[in-house]
Amino acid sequence: MESASFPEGLTIEDSSYYFDGVELKTLAQEYGTPLYVMSETIIRRRCEELRRCFLMRYPGTRAYYASKAFQTPDMLRIVTDEGLGVDVVSGGELYVALKAGVSPSDIIFHGNAKTDQELAFAVEAGVGRIAVDNLEEVYRIEREAAKAGKTQAILFRVTPGVDSHTHRFISTGSLDSKFGIPLEPTETDHYIEALAACPHLDFAGLHFHVGSQLLENTSHMAALRIVLSFAARLARDFGLVVRELNMGGGYGIRYLPEEGAPSLSEFIDPLMTTIQEWSTREKFPMPACAIEPGRWIAGEAGLTLYQIIAVKKIPGVRTYVAVDGGMGDNIRPALYDAKYHAAIVGRTRGQGASAGRVEAAASERPPRPVTIAGRYCESGDILVRDVSLPAPCPGDILSLFSTGAYCFAMASNYNRVPRPALVMVKNGKARLSVRRETYEDLCLRDMCCSFGK
Ligand code: LLP
Repeated sequence: MESASFPEGLTIEDSSYYFDGVELKTLAQEYGTPLYVMSETIIRRRCEELRRCFLMRYPGTRAYYASKAFQTPDMLRIVTDEGLGVDVVSGGELYVALKAGVSPSDIIFHGNAKTDQELAFAVEAGVGRIAVDNLEEVYRIEREAAKAGKTQAILFRVTPGVDSHTHRFISTGSLDSKFGIPLEPTETDHYIEALAACPHLDFAGLHFHVGSQLLENTSHMAALRIVLSFAARLARDFGLVVRELNMGGGYGIRYLPEEGAPSLSEFIDPLMTTIQEWSTREKFPMPACAIEPGRWIAGEAGLTLYQIIAVKKIPGVRTYVAVDGGMGDNIRPALYDAKYHAAIVGRTRGQGASAGRVEAAASERPPRPVTIAGRYCESGDILVRDVSLPAPCPGDILSLFSTGAYCFAMASNYNRVPRPALVMVKNGKARLSVRRETYEDLCLRDMCCSFGK
């Protein structure tokens, strides 16, 4: 058996492609396409690495899975079974997490525009932490906590004012950001005053998140230094102890075979060393440190299968390979110019005029650059530009790799296309985790009413 180093979990045996031991062509035949496929083995492997490199190496630490990356009850059960808490960012994510059996105390609730209903829901449910994003929210959480007769633990989510080297839509740590509390003394003093007026709040510590898909830790390091000096100021000037320090997520993954990504240890160790040195130097107790990876756990655990519907050669320009999915199941290329790797993982005989051409083509023709186009009525719906494919033909099964994070989660019904099914695979076994949407599902919320003529 030949094992490809990228993507992880993909193996090729007698020209058949397997992911976590399950044949991809068979999956496409059984469950249809487009199809999200998630490998439980890879998810658990990431959690195991996280335990080894962070939780066990640095006692007293915590890890929360940022469930916005990919949230299903199955996924939540896996990550909690692996000892992780869960980060949620809306009432909906909180609802699903609670329904999946996540213990409320293991949940951290985020968001820059949490509604009163969401705050009430979170406080009543007993979430472990709420990350405060703005000044009004301090008073609004106090009000909900007082109503519920509870004390609510909070973190201040601060914006350290560092730029991260990632797409501007997923950069969150710079001062000009809609997220978090700007770390300017004139601003932060208001928050500290507010705390004094809120007896139902327990200030647990600080949170920062500098951006996503980061391939080096320089932004995290710069942010950490700024946040630590703020923590020192809180202790010295206000007697406020930062018991917890949550450093957010953002750890980058591999999307392309030629790309590398730092290991979690390479990312985390310098951060932890800096905090330990700060604690010794300043004689402050070591805070309980936490991280919130999303993409790093789910991203490389997923792939998406499509069927090739049409191949259109525009002489002297390019060849478009159109598939049965696109921006409705993966908005990332259109939104962030995200790059993906693709391969043909299943040949079929094709239909009509193309029947019989396929095998001949596959064996005789060398790979040629093509553009993979989605099915949506939008010129920008291009999944991959210029990828080399050997004689793609209608009916072939095409796979995009590293689609486990922010694809299923960001899917839409644009053009009223039903959202794909999701299959979880593990060690040669497959099970349906989310069923495919039906045309009936698409109409469930439509009210047939009229004002008359
Ligand atoms: N913690 C906080 C407070 C966050 O805002 C995020 C992501 C995370 C943790 C997890 O970040 P990760 O480890 O997954 O990078 N839709 C975009 C990514 C948006 C990230 C938003 N916040 C994409 O597809 O690239």
